[in-house]
Amino acid sequence: MDPSSEYFIRKLPEIDQELIYQILELKKEKNVLILAHNYQCEGVQLVADLLGDSLGLAKKVIKATQNDIIFAGVRFMAETAKVLNPNKRIHFPATGSLCDMAAYLKADMIREYKLKNPGIPVVLYINSTAESKTLADIVCTSSNAVNIVKYIQQQTNAPKIAFGPDKNLGAYICKMSGIPIDIIPPHGNCYVHDKYTIKDVSKARKQHPEATLLIHPEAPLEVLDLADYIGSTSMIIHYPVEHPQITSYIIGTEIGVTEQLRRNHPEKTFSPLNENAICTAMKSITLKSILDCIKNIDSDKFIVEIQEDIMKKSQDAINKMIEVR
Ligand code: 13P
Ligand code: SF4
Repeated sequence: MDPSSEYFIRKLPEIDQELIYQILELKKEKNVLILAHNYQCEGVQLVADLLGDSLGLAKKVIKATQNDIIFAGVRFMAETAKVLNPNKRIHFPATGSLCDMAAYLKADMIREYKLKNPGIPVVLYINSTAESKTLADIVCTSSNAVNIVKYIQQQTNAPKIAFGPDKNLGAYICKMSGIPIDIIPPHGNCYVHDKYTIKDVSKARKQHPEATLLIHPEAPLEVLDLADYIGSTSMIIHYPVEHPQITSYIIGTEIGVTEQLRRNHPEKTFSPLNENAICTAMKSITLKSILDCIKNIDSDKFIVEIQEDIMKKSQDAINKMIEVR
């Protein structure tokens, strides 16, 4: 374990420390890989072998040598891990926990769109169910969305692209690429990022006039227009590494990212754009549920299963993204 992790573990309540040391011991003994999204709570981040954004974690799964992988994130991420690695045992230590944005998009909405708009390519945000992905031409994440949409438009020469389920990311892609976008469904959003307002930015800028504002592209376009930098969760986490001269930041994404940045750069200041930016689905995974999962690693209690036909069809759209980017 990284010695700095030990330091942060010691700062947690004793009950969490006990759970962490049990998990670390069992993880070694049972040869389990733990992957965690950047929004996971601090304790879960500290037991993970790798932290990342959707694309980084998806790629890590492909290269994993361990047979058992615990995925601490939301359901679509664990499903993507399974689709990319059908021979591995993927364990998801939460039952339910679907990303609220993914829940907006039902597969029938895409079928209906396709009937009305034959020939229009469908690009789906990775934050969608495996069933919805079976109807996509290609998948994208927040870090490659603009490039993937540009790529598919160049390949097909289509007059517009269908994109779902995030209206805000869709508006951002449209602005950055100049390509007309139909959003399915038109109101799809992430409640954590959609609540950012221009007022939040004015307030934060007044409190921290020297700070650099980093925002995730799931925020509304009028808020993104005020940002100094827009990127995926991992791109936001890397930004201070690339800019050592900047000492103060305002962070416009889920609170787990702000917490990770504070651990990585204790000498710098990180203030959340809105303190209530908390993803409850992500936070439903706890140290207790990870420990329960690792203790049951030889059983099917938390195992992710995907129907054979859904697996095959969603594989094409996900693999295409990995090939392109
Ligand atoms: P990232 O791929 O940027 O981590 O985004 C995932 C997500 O759910 C953001 O809310
Ligand atoms: Fe889904 Fe929003 Fe949570 Fe990300 S922050 S996992 S988009 S609900």
